[in-house]
Amino acid sequence: MLPHPVKKKRPREPKPTPPADPGHPVRFPEVVLCLVEKRMGATRKAFLTTLARSKGFCVEDAKSERVTHVVSEGNSGDEVVKWLKRNGNCYMDAVGSGPALLDLSWFTESMSAGRPVEIKRKHCLEVTAHAEKLEGDSQVAAYACQRRTPLTHNNAALTEALETMAEEAHFCGSEVRSLGFTRAASVLKALSWAVRRVQELSGLPCIGEHSKRIIQEMLEDGMSAEVEGVRQSDRYQTMKLFTKIFGVGVKTASRWYQEGLRTLADLQVHRTKLNKEQQAGLLHYKDLNTPVERPEAEAIAQVVQEVAEQLLPGASVTLIGGFRRGKRSGHDVDLLITHPAEGQEAGLLSKIIGWLESQDFLLYHSSRRNTFQYFEEEEEQEISSSASGMDRFERCLSIFRLGNCPGAVQGGAGAQKPGASGSWKAIRVDFVVAPCSQFPFALLGWTGSKNFERDLRRFSKQEKKMTLNSHSLYHMEQKTFLSAASEEEIFQHLGLEYIPPEERNA
Ligand code: UTP
Ligand code: MN
Repeated sequence: MLPHPVKKKRPREPKPTPPADPGHPVRFPEVVLCLVEKRMGATRKAFLTTLARSKGFCVEDAKSERVTHVVSEGNSGDEVVKWLKRNGNCYMDAVGSGPALLDLSWFTESMSAGRPVEIKRKHCLEVTAHAEKLEGDSQVAAYACQRRTPLTHNNAALTEALETMAEEAHFCGSEVRSLGFTRAASVLKALSWAVRRVQELSGLPCIGEHSKRIIQEMLEDGMSAEVEGVRQSDRYQTMKLFTKIFGVGVKTASRWYQEGLRTLADLQVHRTKLNKEQQAGLLHYKDLNTPVERPEAEAIAQVVQEVAEQLLPGASVTLIGGFRRGKRSGHDVDLLITHPAEGQEAGLLSKIIGWLESQDFLLYHSSRRNTFQYFEEEEEQEISSSASGMDRFERCLSIFRLGNCPGAVQGGAGAQKPGASGSWKAIRVDFVVAPCSQFPFALLGWTGSKNFERDLRRFSKQEKKMTLNSHSLYHMEQKTFLSAASEEEIFQHLGLEYIPPEERNA
C-alpha cells in the first residue's frame, strides 16, 4: 500500500484563519496541523502545540475540516485513522483524500527548519486496511487500560453470564480460565453497541471459544444452559455463600465444602475453627453483604477526613476504589490517606484508628505497617509488583459501625444491634496510607477496577518494559524509577491515553 498522500488543495470554502497564538501570527496558512494525543499524551501535546504556534504554524483539533497535516508519535497509520474517526474527524472517508498522516519526525524537522519541510516517504504513515474495515473493526484495544469502559454499558446480560463463569472457574482454582471469561466480559463492557449476533464478535480481542459459545447461547436462547447449570449447582452456591464471609477465601470455602458443610449454621454446629476476622465476618454477615451506598461511603470518608485533619493538619483522605469510578454502591469503602509533607503521614493511621476505636466506631480492625522500600534490583521489583496487586503500604482492614441518625454520623454505645430497624450498620472499610511521593501510584492502583489494574501492569511490562505497582513505575532497561505528580503523568510515561476513573470500569 502507498503512503497516505497529502491533500494539496481543498475544494471547500476558505474559512478565516483563527488566531493561532496571540503573540505569533500565522506564517503558513496553507498548513493546518493536528496532533494525535493517543500515545503522545495531553501534556506533551500541549507543549508541542505551543511550540508549533510560536513558530507560526496553525494547530487545530481533529474535528476541524481544515486540518492538512496529522502528526502522531508511536502510532501506526491505521491507528491514526481510527483515532481521527473516534475524535470526530469525518474527512478520512476515502483513503487518499484526507490529510497527510505523518510521523513526529516531519514535525521535529519542520520545527528546526522554522517552516513546513517537504513531505518525504519516510515521514508518511502507511494505511494498510480499508477505511470500512477500520470502521467496522470494533475499535476495541486488547488491553483494558487502552479502552474506555463506562459504568453502565450495553451488554449486561452477556457480561453477567461470563462473569458467573469466571467466578465458577475461580472457585475451582482455575485462574487462567477465570481470567479468560473476565477479559471477554471486559471487552463487551467497552462496546458502544449491544451485541445481537455472534458474527459481531469477529475482530474483537480476548473472546475465546468458550466465551463465544456462552454468548451464542445467550443470543440465540436468551439464556445459557451451562451458566444456569453453574448457578444452580450446590458447589457454586455453597462457595458463594462461604466466600461472602469477610476473611474467607476460596481455599477455606473449598475445604469446608469438602467437609460437607453447606450453610452458615453448619459452621456453628460443626464448631468450625474461625479466625478473628472470620468471626467478625460471620457476626456481621448480613450487613456486610448489603451494598454500601454512596452517601454512607461519603459519610465515613468525612468522619475520617475530620479526625485526620485534627490529628495532623493538612492530612487528606480520598475515597478510592469503585466509588471513585462513579459506582453508586459497593462492597466496601476504600480510603487513601496522605499528607503533602513527605514522611508526615507516618504514624497517622494508628492514631486515627485509636480515635475511631475510642468513639466506638470500629467493630473490628487489623492493621499492618508499611513494609515498602525502593529496590534497585529488577527481580525484587518483580516481587513487589506481583500479579495479585498486593502492595506494602501501611494499611488497616476494618468493620466500621455507621450510625444512621439523619445528618449525623456516630459510633454509639452498646455492642448489641437494637431492634429490626437497626440504628447502625456494619460496613467494611479499608484504610491505606501513602507518602505523597507515591500518592499518584497508590491512587491509580487503588481506583481499580481489578481488571483495569491487571492490564495496566501487564501492558507496562509487555509493551513498555516497565514495572508498575501502587508504589512506583520502574523502567527495567534503564533501571530507573519514573516519578509522577499525577495519574495523568503515569499514563503519559506509559504512552497511554489518559482514562479518567469513571471510564476504568473494565
Ligand atoms: P475493591 O476490592 O474494594 O474493589 O478494591 P472495588 O473496585 O472498590 O469494588 P467494590 O465495589 O468494593 O466491590 C479496590 C481496588 O483496590 C485495589 C484493586 O486494584 C481494586 O481495584 N486493591 C485492593 C489493591 O491494590 N490491593 C488490595 O489488596 C486490594
Ligand atoms: Mn471497594
